[in-house]
Amino acid sequence: MAQDRRKLVAGNWKMNLLRDDGLVLARELAHREVAARRIGGAHLACELLVCPPATLLAVLGEALGGSKILLGGQDCHAEAKGAHTGDLSAEMLQDVGCSHVILGHSERRSDHGESDAAVCAKAAAARRAGLVAIVCVGESEAERMAGQALEVVARQLAGSIPAEMGAGDLVIAYEPVWAIGTGRTPTVHEVGEVHAHIRERLAGSVAEPAGVRILYGGSVKPGNAGELLAIGDVDGALVGGASLVAGDFWAIARSCG
Ligand code: PGA
Repeated sequence: MAQDRRKLVAGNWKMNLLRDDGLVLARELAHREVAARRIGGAHLACELLVCPPATLLAVLGEALGGSKILLGGQDCHAEAKGAHTGDLSAEMLQDVGCSHVILGHSERRSDHGESDAAVCAKAAAARRAGLVAIVCVGESEAERMAGQALEVVARQLAGSIPAEMGAGDLVIAYEPVWAIGTGRTPTVHEVGEVHAHIRERLAGSVAEPAGVRILYGGSVKPGNAGELLAIGDVDGALVGGASLVAGDFWAIARSCG
């Protein structure tokens, strides 16, 4: 049931921020979250998650301590350990305090050639390590123009998610590639259409499909968050650029009602 899905607002910091600025941002968010819970009726209606670069995970874990803000990674390797120079396992993310990991982001798919099968193996690794996998899907501009958005998203979903996953360990993020970092977003109708389609495709392919949260991502800003987050089957947001500014990220979280 939709009302059982608490919204999730996740910040994807990507390859941004050095330690000092990352700490300032995390402390500001933690301060706001703790203060909001102290004031009657001011607590957030959503869960908040920040996914900093791997270099900041440990220090941020400490900076966010005491707040309810969750910590996540931006990628993981499919194996638990071994000879994979430069990679991080899901177990390592869990060990440093992560509860979530973003997988199959379009920048990983394009920069590193990640296939649906690779994303699927990583999602299985996240599950093995006790992490929630945020699996990203979304069409390119050419695919949208060709009327293939629903088909592309369905294909990515079918290939990227292990069958045994479900509401407890899986979040889907619909991120149209052409909306990421561009200031452009699909219409409310288009977002609603894709999210409803994702919900349909989840039925019968994962455990407890009605409980799986589906986030929208791509140029979410304080000015459009209210409208986007009010769409049926939009259970939160994956935020890039605006998550680097405490006031903007907070305003987006506040838009959850
Ligand atoms: P953006 O990025 O909010 O800067 O468009 C979203 C994302 O890539 O997750």
